[in-house]
Amino acid sequence: MKKENKQNNIILIGFMGVGKGTVARALVKATDYFAVDTDDLVESIENKKIKKIFKENGELYFRELEKKCALWCEKNLKNTIISTGGGFYRQENINKIGKVVYLQSTFEAILEGLRNAPNSKQKFKKRPLLNDLDEAKKIYDQRVKEYEKVADIIINVEDWDEKKAVKNILKAIKG
Ligand code: S3P
Repeated sequence: MKKENKQNNIILIGFMGVGKGTVARALVKATDYFAVDTDDLVESIENKKIKKIFKENGELYFRELEKKCALWCEKNLKNTIISTGGGFYRQENINKIGKVVYLQSTFEAILEGLRNAPNSKQKFKKRPLLNDLDEAKKIYDQRVKEYEKVADIIINVEDWDEKKAVKNILKAIKG
């Protein structure tokens, strides 16, 4: 463990589309934790979808909002599962917010999951950084080591078995 987890939060990090929100919801069902999502928090303070924030204000502005969100999470959340946007792991205080769980999968498995989802088109459309898949692969390759570096716990979710992921996360948290 990188830091004492006083607030008892669990932060899910990992690449776009890996299933952070799905695993967060499954964790809520299995425990008495509540959950929030950093993309949802950012959208609600701006009253704008992420896609529109990227388009109208640019990625840097979005990253500033993520920073504000990270500081708020550190100060205000406890006993909470926090699912995050794929770039949120870069926040300087990430390890102060709670225990960081990296949901790990291959780029190919992530794409396959997104393509097989019932609302597949929407899942691609809402993510500006998935517009160009060659670029997305470059971002993936660059981030893999960085995700590992900030993680307290690494959970492989390549098989899309969310129940197994929940079991493994809770086992690892109890340590
Ligand atoms: C991003 C991931 C997105 C969202 C934004 C940027 C990223 O969240 O925060 O489009 O930099 O990886 P998801 O990981 O939920 O797709």
